[in-house]
Amino acid sequence: MSAPKEVWSSRLGVILAVAGSAVGLGNFLRFPGLAAQYGGGAFMIAYFISLLIIGIPIGWAEWALGRHGGSLGFRSSPGIFHALIKKPYGKYLGVIGFIIPVMIYMYYVYIEAWCLGYALNAATGQLSVPGMNYGEFFGRYTGAGSDGVALHFGLHDVGLFVLIVYAINFWFIYRGISKGIELVCKYAMPALIVIALIVLARVLTLGTPDPLKPDQNVLTGLGFMWNPGDISEGLKNPQLWLAAAGQIFFSLSVGFGVIITYSSYLTKKDDVVLSGLTASSANEFCEVGLGGLITVPAAFMFLGAAGIVGQGTFGLGFNVLPEVFARMPAGQVFATIFFILLFLAAVTSSLSMLQPGIAFLEEGLGIKRKASVALLGLVTAIGTGFVWYFSKDLKALDTLDFWVGTLLIFIQATILIIIFGWTVGIEKGWAILHEGSALRAPAFFKPIIKYVTPAFLLTIFVLFILKNV
Ligand code: PFF
Repeated sequence: MSAPKEVWSSRLGVILAVAGSAVGLGNFLRFPGLAAQYGGGAFMIAYFISLLIIGIPIGWAEWALGRHGGSLGFRSSPGIFHALIKKPYGKYLGVIGFIIPVMIYMYYVYIEAWCLGYALNAATGQLSVPGMNYGEFFGRYTGAGSDGVALHFGLHDVGLFVLIVYAINFWFIYRGISKGIELVCKYAMPALIVIALIVLARVLTLGTPDPLKPDQNVLTGLGFMWNPGDISEGLKNPQLWLAAAGQIFFSLSVGFGVIITYSSYLTKKDDVVLSGLTASSANEFCEVGLGGLITVPAAFMFLGAAGIVGQGTFGLGFNVLPEVFARMPAGQVFATIFFILLFLAAVTSSLSMLQPGIAFLEEGLGIKRKASVALLGLVTAIGTGFVWYFSKDLKALDTLDFWVGTLLIFIQATILIIIFGWTVGIEKGWAILHEGSALRAPAFFKPIIKYVTPAFLLTIFVLFILKNV
């Protein structure tokens, strides 16, 4: 059961790869969509508390356990859990750790294909035709809302782009850790930050785009996204807490098998305290600082609240935003680079969803790399086919995203933090975390990890179940 000897080529490389996994569609579409849906302020309070109580500590636990598991010769979360728990059921507890990323991949890659297709359609002027009906374009492009099942392969059809995106992802996964994932992230991450800053500058300098609607300007746009609203009412809603905590997991890629696998390729000399903090900070900068200031404020300025509410995360990105870009000066250019931004963000994330599965196939089932890549390609392609078929109704995608991207992650993260704080034990876990680290994590995180984080997760979970059953 020993894994092939692959390593990251530099410390910056692994940080960029984890940040690449974290920064994705979650930052630019899912986060703004959720914040707007749950009314800004209350959501943000729950979000920041979750960052502190679950995002940072569980992230550290995962970095530490992954690197430790790697030093014992394991790469996949079933292997690492088995080595830590030293009981046969250990590996089963780790199984969700590669199933979640693979399942998320099946629908995430589909949205990634939308992004590439929209970038090309925007570049060729197909999204800036006067009087265009964007909802209808989207419906034709994805098949959403139609009852036909034929998958077409033209510039106006998602099929072509699904194939291209699959080829890109599996090519880089096949090339491996440093020559594949690390290489892509090294170029894609700086590029996407530059693009996001350009788009942000455009949005923030729009002033009052429609003089006939003076109430829809930059300030009211930002206010719509960030307005405190009725905070105390909002915070009583367990669904809001679940959404905020779920977004922290989803966005940071923390708690469900990605970081554990990535960090298993580290050595004992690496500073995982610093790496964890750097990758999380990069993600929060992109999420709150960039994603939170672009998507919803821009949509509000042109379409008002009515154009945003009830659109759902995907509707916001692909029905609403193209129209918004079409109405702004030089919109064709900005739409093109915005969808390239989404595509770059999505590629670095989707690569990270595949690696845990590959690690499991190689390590747990002893399948060779080439065959593992082929097998995972086949399984995910079948899954994506189902997603495509059922996603005629966009709500189905949002629902799938909720069950897998929020609820399942919740369960796996709870298992992970209990293993770190209780099975391994907080003192030993703390020592493992600090091996090779010049930076020390503040000691108050010890009781947080041991008591507060699991209690917080269980409380939200139970409240949510009680409310929904
Ligand atoms: N963190 C990514 C985002 O914010 O879009 C999503 C993600 C990456 C989910 C990796 C799951 C995963 F395994």
